[in-house]
Amino acid sequence: MKVIAHRGYSGKYPENTMLAFKMALEAGCDEIELDIQMSADGRIVIFHDESTGRVTGVPGLVRNFTFEELRKLDASALYAGKFGFNPVPSLEEYFSWVKDTGISTNIELKNSVFYYEALEAKTTELIKKYGLEKRVMFSSFNHASLVKCKELAPSIPCGVLVSAPGLGNAPCFLKSFGFEYYHPDIGCLNDETVAECKKQGIGLNVWTVNDMGGLLRLEEWGCDGIITNFPDVCKKWLKNNPSLRVSP
Ligand code: G3P
Ligand code: MG
Repeated sequence: MKVIAHRGYSGKYPENTMLAFKMALEAGCDEIELDIQMSADGRIVIFHDESTGRVTGVPGLVRNFTFEELRKLDASALYAGKFGFNPVPSLEEYFSWVKDTGISTNIELKNSVFYYEALEAKTTELIKKYGLEKRVMFSSFNHASLVKCKELAPSIPCGVLVSAPGLGNAPCFLKSFGFEYYHPDIGCLNDETVAECKKQGIGLNVWTVNDMGGLLRLEEWGCDGIITNFPDVCKKWLKNNPSLRVSP
């Protein structure tokens, strides 16, 4: 099972910063999950919330700041100086770093609260510019945006994100749109959905799993990926425990 570092190694380091991404790589993760939005002047930035307050301590909306203004905010303000100053990364800064590593990236388009025009097209352009087509996937709660991603780059896999209570008849929905992965909150997944996904050839990456019980359940279900804030713990456990999978 792939270990996917949620917002980087966010259990220990400031989420969605280059520091969290580099520490996730060091922890041995297979993939990094990150969230993208767009600045007022059209740059793609890595940031989870639509508003800047919780993470940087400065109120406002990401979409109202220019890239230069965003760069002045500290994305590690929650840690009160423990990790120094960590700017909001651009997707391009991340790509220029990750391209020389062996890991893959799950790019979550954060565009279901505010829709960012051309986020899909600009992201696809950058993926191509850095030659990362075979090492990325898209995911989003905005499933119409994933339809656009599929039109722009049919070979890049898409993960359909859902939170409780999940999506009715999910495998059938995914198949009919050509989406490859279902990304449910662990609370919405059950034996029947797992079995149906397997039957339909739909992959399963599950979030956000930060406890041993959850890790065990995903391994028993034979999920493809665990999206976690603690990639080191998951990696070590998976390495030290024989597979519990019923089917390979
Ligand atoms: O990709 C899984 C997870 O990141 C989705 O929720 O809110 O943490 O972006 P959120
Ligand atoms: Mg996310």
